[in-house]
Amino acid sequence: MEYKHIPVMLNEVLKYLDPKEGEYFIDCTLGGGSYTIAIAKKIKSKGKILSIDLDDIAIKNAKSKIKNAKLDNVILVQDNFKNLKNIIKEKWQNNLTKKFNGIVFDLGLSSAQLDDIDRGFSFKSDSPLNMSFGQSSKFENCNTEYIINKWKLNDLRKIFYEYGEEKFSNRIANEIIKKRKVKEIKTTWQLVEIIKNAVPQWYQHKKIHFATKIFQALRIATNDELQNLKKVLPTAIDLLESKGKIVIISYHSLEDRIVKQFFKKESIDCLCPPEIPVCRCNHKRKIKIINKKIIIPTEEEIKNNQRARSAKMRIAEKI
Ligand SMILES: C[S@@+](CC[C@H](N)C(=O)[O-])C[C@H]1O[C@@H](n2cnc3c(N)ncnc32)[C@H](O)[C@@H]1O
Repeated sequence: MEYKHIPVMLNEVLKYLDPKEGEYFIDCTLGGGSYTIAIAKKIKSKGKILSIDLDDIAIKNAKSKIKNAKLDNVILVQDNFKNLKNIIKEKWQNNLTKKFNGIVFDLGLSSAQLDDIDRGFSFKSDSPLNMSFGQSSKFENCNTEYIINKWKLNDLRKIFYEYGEEKFSNRIANEIIKKRKVKEIKTTWQLVEIIKNAVPQWYQHKKIHFATKIFQALRIATNDELQNLKKVLPTAIDLLESKGKIVIISYHSLEDRIVKQFFKKESIDCLCPPEIPVCRCNHKRKIKIINKKIIIPTEEEIKNNQRARSAKMRIAEKI
């Protein structure tokens, strides 16, 4: 199967990471491999890039692209980036005598995953409810069918509200509980029908499809996306060389908020409350924020790739 994904803000990623011959990089979200391959070409064979993805289809596709491009400086790892510390221990031969010049995250899912009718990310087709980034069970945190059929009312309500910002969370969660007592909920269209029954008529005719927010919430919960991000950020900063850059592209406000708050915290020296006159926390800043204002794609890019419209880029530099 052809792996279709148009890279988002590739020029900006290259501009800020500025890869040079012989340097070392990590691409934590390989996807279609466009960032990895562009960086690998610039660092040439003296440099190295470690590229991670949970998805075995992404890994297989990248293997063949790397072979076709005759690149010998890419290390592919199928794993969750939250395990970055261990991945480095196990797969990075240089074992940190030299740290990394740049690390990039392009969060969320790829167009290839969204369009894959067997994956259950989209309600455009009737698919089994499994929104896991990695199909292999050894990487699965949880699966969507389990969440829908087994989680308690309050937990469903919470993820719909917090991860989906869905105003009808309560009604939808209640409807799911009612329907699953009669019959297990196994497919995307079964779920869409339940959501439709739970929301008012006017909500069904809005520009954004009425199931969108619930599907987003379930994807985030299934893959534990926010916790993975929180876990990996401190490791990523520690792995950078002085002046090394971390570039993060996120696609919804929950992720962007995590990045923003983390960058803010790590870019100041003391975290003590203002009423404490002498610092007791001894927190030392590790990074400098490069862009105070988020960077977004150009209008031209959005015109050519609708997926790019919600992208937000933040960059920091290790001190
Ligand atoms: C938006 S795509 C990346 C696209 C890539 N930059 C490109 O240009 O082709 C995000 C990728 O990250 C992967 N991913 C998301 N969360 C992950 C995690 N915690 N660990 C490893 N891979 C993850 C997804 O499987 C997906 O392939």
